[in-house]
Amino acid sequence: MNGMDQNREKWGSKIGFVFAAAGSAIGLGNIWKFPYIAGENGGASFVLVYLICIAIIGLPVLIAEILLGRTTQRNPVGAFYKLSQSKFWASVGGLGVIAGFMILSFYAIIAGWAIGYIVEAISGNFYLWPEPAAAAQHFRDLVINPYWILGYFAFFMILTMIIVFAGIQKGIERASKIMMPILFILLIILMIRGLTLEGAGEGLDFLWNPDWSKISASTILLALGHAFFTLSLGMGAMLTYGSYMSDDDSVPVAGLQIVFLDTVMALIAGMAIFTAVFAVGLDPAAGPGLIFHTLPGVFVKMPGGYIFSILFFILLSIAALTSSISLLEVVVSYFVDERKWKRHNAAIFLGIIIFLLGVPSALSFNILSDFKIFNLNFFDIVDFIASNILLPLGGLLISVFVAWIWGFDKVIPNLRKGAERLFDNYPWLLGFWKFFLKFLSPVLIFFVFLHSIGLLEKILNLFAQ
Ligand code: PHE
Repeated sequence: MNGMDQNREKWGSKIGFVFAAAGSAIGLGNIWKFPYIAGENGGASFVLVYLICIAIIGLPVLIAEILLGRTTQRNPVGAFYKLSQSKFWASVGGLGVIAGFMILSFYAIIAGWAIGYIVEAISGNFYLWPEPAAAAQHFRDLVINPYWILGYFAFFMILTMIIVFAGIQKGIERASKIMMPILFILLIILMIRGLTLEGAGEGLDFLWNPDWSKISASTILLALGHAFFTLSLGMGAMLTYGSYMSDDDSVPVAGLQIVFLDTVMALIAGMAIFTAVFAVGLDPAAGPGLIFHTLPGVFVKMPGGYIFSILFFILLSIAALTSSISLLEVVVSYFVDERKWKRHNAAIFLGIIIFLLGVPSALSFNILSDFKIFNLNFFDIVDFIASNILLPLGGLLISVFVAWIWGFDKVIPNLRKGAERLFDNYPWLLGFWKFFLKFLSPVLIFFVFLHSIGLLEKILNLFAQ
């Protein structure tokens, strides 16, 4: 596991890293998942808990993960091995690579729907099914067609492969620099559109006015789990992007910028979507189908809806693409660094493998819909294992590794590189970070993890009896 080479690429600029990493963070998690889980969990109260989780766990772990990458200049497996010389910790990085395979194999399916919906929007099909129930049926009619799902899934994978194939500066950095500003502008336009709809106030109320009685243990755990997913934490994506960073850049400042952008985008997406959902009187708790089932109906009822519907699904696809490239990059960087593959071959070959891995997930919406284990279809199982087991476990192990194994005496001098001024002016920041990473995050993440595998509820039930 030497993997040392002088030609390893670097970001062309500081802002290049922030754009790319924010691009990884901002994705389906913000625009598709965040609104629907906030909608299902009482809106504002969930949002509040999520914000706290992002601040006290997300940010410290994000900084740790980026730092692991920058210090070692390696993929996740190589990074852990370099610092510990231990096969066990190298295999923690290996879990991240496996999570990359798995997450991308289902993420790209939903991203494919987003692309398919650009075509639906352009063709004016939303006007044929204006009522939510009919729109939902139309959605089911589309996904029941294996060619529709597999076709757009393949198309999206090819886009992802092309960008990763082109490399760090020419591919990922350039794509992110072009796409992120477009995404930002489109979302702002959609938010303004939402805010100016009649009855928008109700949506804002839902998003901003917490109902304290709705906060339960499971809200907290869900919010924490989502904090991981949305920040691309726990599987080495941020580590890998950090590995192309140079020592003159400030890791804590970059971490803060990424968290800020990701959170702002989720809240803007929330405002754009809930104002619209309430303005036309739809149910905010419609679940994972929220945007595909209900938004087409929302668009056709609003002035300028045709254009906005096209913009929205373009935006969703762009957001997904800047995230999917980070997932593929984790896998590719491992094979390039550790197995000495050529980047071009790795991008193509691994992209194809991930597509094949995703085929059963894609077919679980049609041909394989009856194949279920524990009442979960193939898609749900892959999502569950990756998002609810591997990510929290990875986050927990990253905190433990940095705080307890690598050791703060070695960590701090590395963290200070590029951030000397910050820590000279605010020395207490270091103390906070150490405390959060050493105690708070491992303990809290441990609870999320237990919850994810359904143990927490069982234990709580035991006490309740
Ligand atoms: N953060 C991405 C999103 O919100 C998803 C993701 C998870 C990307 C893990 C990379 C790694 O859509």
